[in-house]
Amino acid sequence: MSVNAETQQSSSQGLAAADKRDDGEHALWGGDMAESYIKRSGGCNPPLADKLIDLVRTLLPPPDKPLSILDNGCGPAIMTSQCLKHPAIANHHNLHISAVDIGKDFVASNRSLIASHPEWNQDGKVIDTAVEDACNLSFGDKTFDASFTALAIFAFPNPAKAARELYRTLKPGGVTAASMFKGGGWQPVFYETESIIRPGKEHTAVPLLDQWKPKGKLEQMLKESGFVDVIEGEASAMAWWDSAEEAAANLTDTVKMLVGDAWSATEKGRMAEEMANVIRRGGGGVVHDGDQVGFEVLVWMAVGRR
Ligand SMILES: C[S@@+](CC[C@H](N)C(=O)[O-])C[C@H]1O[C@@H](n2cnc3c(N)ncnc32)[C@H](O)[C@@H]1O
Repeated sequence: MSVNAETQQSSSQGLAAADKRDDGEHALWGGDMAESYIKRSGGCNPPLADKLIDLVRTLLPPPDKPLSILDNGCGPAIMTSQCLKHPAIANHHNLHISAVDIGKDFVASNRSLIASHPEWNQDGKVIDTAVEDACNLSFGDKTFDASFTALAIFAFPNPAKAARELYRTLKPGGVTAASMFKGGGWQPVFYETESIIRPGKEHTAVPLLDQWKPKGKLEQMLKESGFVDVIEGEASAMAWWDSAEEAAANLTDTVKMLVGDAWSATEKGRMAEEMANVIRRGGGGVVHDGDQVGFEVLVWMAVGRR
């Protein structure tokens, strides 16, 4: 994996704390998120999941041996779905994938997804989903041969504890793979939009994401949890939408939640329209391909062994 120099976003204003819903669910990950997630993320997650699988494929038990996988902070089970399409995993006759997430809405949606794929639970394969807190997994010690934490570590309240849980639940010799946003994505579009709506004001900080941008943070976290042979590198994928309006509508849904009270209602009301203008003229790193608009999402990927 190649490694680039890292740039830090300047920021001053604090991000409003992500709300909890009345039922205790995290507002960022509840509601219609399970249905809208793929659209919101412009389809970049499946190719990134494939890259994470490629990083560990040679470290997995051979196809004639059992393979037990944890899809940690699974969201809408994209990692699990991609595992089931990947020959390095799907060819295992004795395969168990546990797709787990703190979000009840995601898990409910994953149950429907699994029910709609009866072939997933045939011929020795068991694919299941459950509500689990990544910082306090209910699985026993040394359960899994492999675990994936795709684009989720930033969302955990205690990432270091979550990493120790990954170590605890892996079998000796097992492999863990984690990915985390490092740059690009919607933030440059957001900041260009912000400069128009809030001229002269400093950019709204997004500490939830910004703290993971420095090179080596993911690697260090895995090493501190006991993992060995840890390597970190970078990967990228494009996020695409069918029009500037569609991109802006999907991005503003997420961004409005992240800025919280840092933006006034009037400022938030202008976000979709101004963001569509930025996207239309190719600002913020946006590229056009026919009617489609997109941008590159950069991520860190790290792999370690227990
Ligand atoms: C950006 S999504 C990533 C989803 C998916 N892994 C993917 O590849 O797109 C972050 C996920 O972390 C989950 N999450 C947040 N806090 C969690 C926790 N404490 N335990 C487990 N999952 C958590 C959220 O519900 C959400 O599904």
